[in-house]
Amino acid sequence: MALPRTLLITGGAGFIGSNFVHFLSHFHPEVQVVNLDKLTYAGNLKNLEGIPLDGSPTPAGFRHTFVHGDIQDRRLLAELFVRYRFDGVVNFAAESHVDRSLQGADEFIRTNVLGAHELMRVCLEHRCRLLQVSTDEVYGQLMPDEPPFTEESPLRPRNPYAATKAAADLMALSYFESFGLDVVITRSSNNYGPRQFPEKFLPLAITNLLEGRAIPVYGTGENVREWLHVEDNCRGIWMALTRGRSGEVYNLGGRDEVQNIEMARRLCELLGVDPEQGIRFVRDRPGHDLRYALDSSKAKRELGWEPQWELSRGLEELVRWYRENEEWWQEIRSGEYRKYYERHYGEKID
Ligand SMILES: NC(=O)c1ccc[n+]([C@@H]2O[C@H](COP(=O)([O-])OP(=O)(O)OC[C@H]3O[C@@H](n4cnc5c(N)ncnc54)[C@H](O)[C@@H]3O)[C@@H](O)[C@H]2O)c1
Repeated sequence: MALPRTLLITGGAGFIGSNFVHFLSHFHPEVQVVNLDKLTYAGNLKNLEGIPLDGSPTPAGFRHTFVHGDIQDRRLLAELFVRYRFDGVVNFAAESHVDRSLQGADEFIRTNVLGAHELMRVCLEHRCRLLQVSTDEVYGQLMPDEPPFTEESPLRPRNPYAATKAAADLMALSYFESFGLDVVITRSSNNYGPRQFPEKFLPLAITNLLEGRAIPVYGTGENVREWLHVEDNCRGIWMALTRGRSGEVYNLGGRDEVQNIEMARRLCELLGVDPEQGIRFVRDRPGHDLRYALDSSKAKRELGWEPQWELSRGLEELVRWYRENEEWWQEIRSGEYRKYYERHYGEKID
């Protein structure tokens, strides 16, 4: 597609979405952004610090307008499309935490499937490109000796979160085939970076260690994840939006496969904590996928994308960010999050 002038970003107050807004403000300030977010427990306007919310320009000329609302709101979407005439939509809005989907999947179905479908409808009506942000979890799990997933691998999601993401992917591809919806899908591996809600493994581990608590590690810690710096993902999403072929899926993997126990040990080392004290094994999560790994050669070939961050540097920076932004995560670790943590890990946060 031609370079977009006006983009609708959904879920742009969450982890990856807000990093994408910061990415645009630095590298593509000419793009005008409307950011539609429901501000669930995971949405946080502090993630957008330094960026005006009312459309007034930054010194670089970047304009960002925040709209508090739900992607399931058909009328609101229609109004926004008429008002701003978007030439692209990037859908980050989601319920994104596997553990919460095991406690109840209603909201996951509503936002990740029905909400995503509303975006497909409105994009089709206005002939607008949709970038659907998806995940490697739609492929299910890999055994240690299996080759990484390609875009052709079958979808075998094993938890409710992953199933709703797979459902949205399939709906989007069916809209491409049936009606010619201009849609591109990215599936990334686990992201890490600043502003990630501390229920996810890395920020939970770091903030626990900073508070003198242990990292809860599921099962024996042998599960393998492939880590991708959020900035690399944002660049990949931008490249897929602007260069990707309609109706195509692009894997965006981070190359670095690490067992969870190994990651926990590396974090203990970075924070100067004895792993004997810093790691606590907890009962495994049901349907816990053993391993994810992505073959991202299509993204390299067609988009020119490759991850640039080294994991060791990324982890050092990550620890530094959480050290320097204690106020940000301390606020989150009170209230609703505290109740969730206590319910899930059976341990109190004092
Ligand atoms: N975090 C990862 O490692 C990862 C990896 C692969 C793919 N993804 C995908 O990337 C996307 C973003 O993930 P994240 O980690 O930033 O999630 P997040 O939970 O941090 O943020 C989600 C955002 O969506 C908003 N939202 C939720 N429901 C909404 C609704 N109905 N209408 C409007 N806004 C709504 C929330 O308020 C929040 O700001 C998700 O689609 C997720 O499936 C994430």
